[in-house]
Amino acid sequence: MKTILITGGAGFIGSHVVRLFVNNYPDYKIVNLDKLTYAGNLENLKDIEDKPNYEFVKGDIVDGKFIQDLFSKYNFDGVIHLAAESHVDRSISNPMEFIYTNIVGTVNLLNAVNFIWKKDYKGKKFYHISTDEVYGSLGKEGIFTEDTPYNPHSPYSASKASSDHLVRAYHDTFGLPIVISNCSNNYGSFQFPEKLIPLFINNIKNNKPLPVYGEGINIRDWLFVEDHAKAIDLIFHKGETGETYNIGGNNEWKNIDLIRKLCEIMDDKLGREKGTSAKLITFVKDRAGHDLRYAIDSSKLQNELGWKPSLDFEEGLEKTVDWYLENEEWLNNVTFGDYQKYYNEQYVKR
Ligand code: NAD
Ligand code: DAU
Repeated sequence: MKTILITGGAGFIGSHVVRLFVNNYPDYKIVNLDKLTYAGNLENLKDIEDKPNYEFVKGDIVDGKFIQDLFSKYNFDGVIHLAAESHVDRSISNPMEFIYTNIVGTVNLLNAVNFIWKKDYKGKKFYHISTDEVYGSLGKEGIFTEDTPYNPHSPYSASKASSDHLVRAYHDTFGLPIVISNCSNNYGSFQFPEKLIPLFINNIKNNKPLPVYGEGINIRDWLFVEDHAKAIDLIFHKGETGETYNIGGNNEWKNIDLIRKLCEIMDDKLGREKGTSAKLITFVKDRAGHDLRYAIDSSKLQNELGWKPSLDFEEGLEKTVDWYLENEEWLNNVTFGDYQKYYNEQYVKR
């Protein structure tokens, strides 16, 4: 039986990855290590928490001694590393958490695997989950390939870029068997409502203003989270050691167009008159250093490993809206308490 460590498994993408691995690989033991920050929520994993091949460990990847002890105890065969501070706006107001978790935390994991695995790297893999934001911002033309030079602009993307470099450095220096993927914007169930789509669904539901940064002209390439989880499964098992794979939806949307589409879907689902939700759109001060456009070329992953996105965006968006409306209790629980403080500081006091 292989023992696989998944970090950040109580978060948005991590919970989908944990669920997929626990359900698809009964012969693996899946250990989910998560600090349970504001973004981590064990409610995301209720359906699999009693499975015999699943274990949850609460802990902080920034604590090097704790990480070393964990690796000595479990002797993991593979690591899928998703734990991170992930929200760009929070990295602008509080960059240090991003430096600790995304950089120091990643190096703690690298040191631990390197120490434990160095006698024999055979059959081992350290898989680092990263973002397309490390490549910086595109103009109207162009697309990110695996060879695009790094040019991050936010403390979040700079911390992720730094961790990517360190992961590659441990491969080049020590021969650590690593693989990296850089993915575009994910959407779907269990996403914390600080990110655009769930935030706006929640605000529309509650008749609150929809704070569109700048003129709403920024473009993102959206991918359904379950398609990302499937890509991670494929890359973990079939990806070549030392390689990087871009993952994206080939699905570029200008923010304002996406928001208008979301408003239409919400009007329909809530039985409101057409155009009601769009009246909530409010243009606010732009995000500092706001990247204009991301677009991912995922042809390497498609051609070499046979992955492709399964869901049409409008279908995925509707499915996502349905999920948030059907899971009102989840949404109410995560928007309680500290969330209000964050919301006021980010949107009301500014
Ligand atoms: P998330 O914020 O929803 O979840 C992050 C998880 O990490 C949470 O469960 C949190 O409790 C945990 N965590 C944070 N700090 C920790 C620490 N010090 N020790 C242990 N656990 C800690 O993030 P997400 O959106 O699911 O993103 C997961 C990963 O995927 C991140 O590495 C992110 O950079 C990357 N990524 C995200 C997207 C996206 O669109 N959301 C796209 C590409 C890549
Ligand atoms: O590209 C991958 C990245 O996508 C991931 O690495 C990050 O972890 C993830 O958070 C996401 O980053 P973005 O900054 O693109 O996502 P966010 O949902 O915060 O914003 C999407 C776009 O919407 C962006 O152009 C900013 C805009 N926006 C966002 C919020 C929260 C608004 O106009 N208003 C808002 O209130």
